[in-house]
Amino acid sequence: MKRIAVLTSGGDAPGMNAAIRAVVRTCIFNEKECMGVMRGYEGLLDGEFTLMNSASVGGIIHKGGTILKTARSPRFKTEDGLQLAKQQLQAAGIEGLVVIGGDGSFRGAKDLHDRGVATVGVPATIDNDTAGSDETIGFDTAVNTALEAVMRLRDTASSHDRLFIVEVMGRNAGFLPLEVAVATGAEYVVVPELPLSIGNLCQRLRASHERKKSHTLIILAEGVMTAGEMKDKLYDTGGYDARVTVLGHIQRGGNPTSFDTILASRMGAYAAESLFIGKSGVMVGNISHRMVLSDLERAWTERKTLSPELLGLVEKLN
Ligand code: ADP
Ligand code: F6P
Repeated sequence: MKRIAVLTSGGDAPGMNAAIRAVVRTCIFNEKECMGVMRGYEGLLDGEFTLMNSASVGGIIHKGGTILKTARSPRFKTEDGLQLAKQQLQAAGIEGLVVIGGDGSFRGAKDLHDRGVATVGVPATIDNDTAGSDETIGFDTAVNTALEAVMRLRDTASSHDRLFIVEVMGRNAGFLPLEVAVATGAEYVVVPELPLSIGNLCQRLRASHERKKSHTLIILAEGVMTAGEMKDKLYDTGGYDARVTVLGHIQRGGNPTSFDTILASRMGAYAAESLFIGKSGVMVGNISHRMVLSDLERAWTERKTLSPELLGLVEKLN
């Protein structure tokens, strides 16, 4: 294998740049060429390739976002799209592809693998919902970004004795909201993985009011309902007048933490080296602090579960 390529796909995540840098520099170290594909699968279909050198990835290790840009590409998912992507890679002499993204991007990587293109996935999403890795690149940074924002809300909630609902990203998974709830000492966390009864939540709010708890933070996963909907339900059921904050895309930006930078460096290097030794149709994972490979399908056939210990902590420590 002389030449591989790297792309970022799906929602961006802090640490993607460090992963790109690791792929490129691992290629150079091993005397291989590395092409950068712009705009994920969209750029792959359009043949938007740039030969990367050491300087192309200089000064980016600590930067949020992705220098290769990212996109969501519906046309890539069609058979014609997949065949065009394969042709573009062959025409550019590219023999392997590192796909940095979430499980949607990995489904695309598996489709390419099934059509004879060597692919290795690197899990990067703030949602941390990719089975096959204890953590995904960007998750730790997003937890810390949300932590800072929620702590500011806590100051004002406490000054006014108010109830706040904070809507946190994570798509259909509760990993990000749960860690944010534990780290901020929130009173309640509402996640898609557990059933929610508004009546029961109102009872618990009353009980904490009786314990003279003056302010309350509810961390709400976006996958359950919007913060506005929850505000209305709490008013209708219990007469509560909650303030609402949607953290939104702030959680996707910013410089990666050292944890994410190191994870991304390890994963990017491991992915490139895996391609060099002939691996394909696999994703890199960090399991119990070790780099491992799993079949790409693991990302969507296996469901990662929330830590019962962390869920218990929110309840016990509130
Ligand atoms: P993420 O990788 O963060 O989960 P998406 O789900 O948006 O992000 O997927 C990113 C891109 O991966 C999509 O725009 C599409 O091009 C490709 N993709 C997603 N799902 C599939 C699928 N089922 N089959 C093939 N390609 C897919
Ligand atoms: O997958 C990352 C993520 O930020 C999710 O948490 C969120 O639901 C989604 O992407 C938002 O997507 P978009 O950037 O297209 O609004």
